[in-house]
Amino acid sequence: MASYIVKDINLAEQGMRNIEWAMNHMPVLALIRDRFSRDKPLKGIKIGACMHITKETAVLMLTLKEAGAEIFLSASNPLSTQDDVAAALAKSGIHVYGKRGESEEEYFKMIDIVAESEPNIVIDDGGDLIVRLHENHPDIARKIIGGCEETTTGVTREKALEKDGKLVFPVIAVNNAHTKRLMDNRYGTGQSTIQGILNAASVLIAGKNVVVVGYGYVGSGIAKRARGMGAKVIIVEVDPIKALSAALDGYDIKTMSEAAEIGDIFITATGDINVIRGEHIKKMKNGAILANSGHFNVEISIEALEELSTSKRRINEFVEEYVLRDGRRIYLLAEGRLVNLVAAGGHPSDVMDVSFALQALSVEYLIRNRSNLENKVYEVPLEIDREVARLKLEAMGMKLEKLTEEQERYLRSYKI
Ligand code: ADE
Repeated sequence: MASYIVKDINLAEQGMRNIEWAMNHMPVLALIRDRFSRDKPLKGIKIGACMHITKETAVLMLTLKEAGAEIFLSASNPLSTQDDVAAALAKSGIHVYGKRGESEEEYFKMIDIVAESEPNIVIDDGGDLIVRLHENHPDIARKIIGGCEETTTGVTREKALEKDGKLVFPVIAVNNAHTKRLMDNRYGTGQSTIQGILNAASVLIAGKNVVVVGYGYVGSGIAKRARGMGAKVIIVEVDPIKALSAALDGYDIKTMSEAAEIGDIFITATGDINVIRGEHIKKMKNGAILANSGHFNVEISIEALEELSTSKRRINEFVEEYVLRDGRRIYLLAEGRLVNLVAAGGHPSDVMDVSFALQALSVEYLIRNRSNLENKVYEVPLEIDREVARLKLEAMGMKLEKLTEEQERYLRSYKI
């Protein structure tokens, strides 16, 4: 029996039904699971993972277990754990540590349990496990074969470790794969962020001024979905190329200070701290809604919101109302944490199919290439990225055109 810390093990039956739903919508991972089940490429490997404990993550964990690995999993956010799924995983032989609503202290304690399991491979979502291993468990970290990183914020942190000469094992930036950025960061976050906002505060999007802060893959996906629902979308960007791209996509570009005065709904997706500060909150309209879709709860200054408020109360599980000194009310969703994972179930299973197919194949790649890799952050090999795209298209019932021999020759030649 696996060791575990979950909210209620009796939730396992419901959790398993949810996992089965996800499994039925993750066809690419199913193909990989079939092969892993036959070949057992991870036999004898211990995997430590720090990921959102969702039904989709469960399908990845069961796939890796099928490949022969023993798995220790903790949550990558204190508010994203699906307790029924955690219970089902514990019953399925995964060592799982996570409870929705755990304190910050418990959160890191669970990560430490995973680190202290002395994994050979780590999978991280946001960098907390990898950074914790480097800072608090250096002897364990040095023996690790390699890691995979799921998200932009984690890749930024691991590249910072590399730049400082401190990274002690290779890391594959799964986040940076073309298929991941396209399907997960753009379309997955676009949809699940809007879903989270609507679950939390069921407001009409049509006709609203929606301010999206950050126009990377995530921000551009959110903007697209908000516009699709009839919002007037305003983009706040610091990068001139991204801002130009947003302008050419037909959005209005404003500074945070200008946007603060007119926004009805604000969504941050920058990966940086204090993007919405006191000076902006002071200018906001009565009833403004603030939501974050970046990895950490640092983008909206909750400290400033608290300072400017005379009182606050909880409206529902996902909405807190702050009353400012002049009586204006500002609504903060999901405590400023990832609104799509806290107030919705994260990205749909068919999106995570791609992200987690990349994870599974990247873990296999680390094992196969362990003797050739340096302590660097690597991109996902293009063959893996293209193979995942091919399999996903096939699963969607779409066929690729093929180059003729003549066309291939033409493309290889300098003659026309
Ligand atoms: N990140 C975004 N959506 C997710 C999901 N459904 N499961 C795990 N990680 C996620």
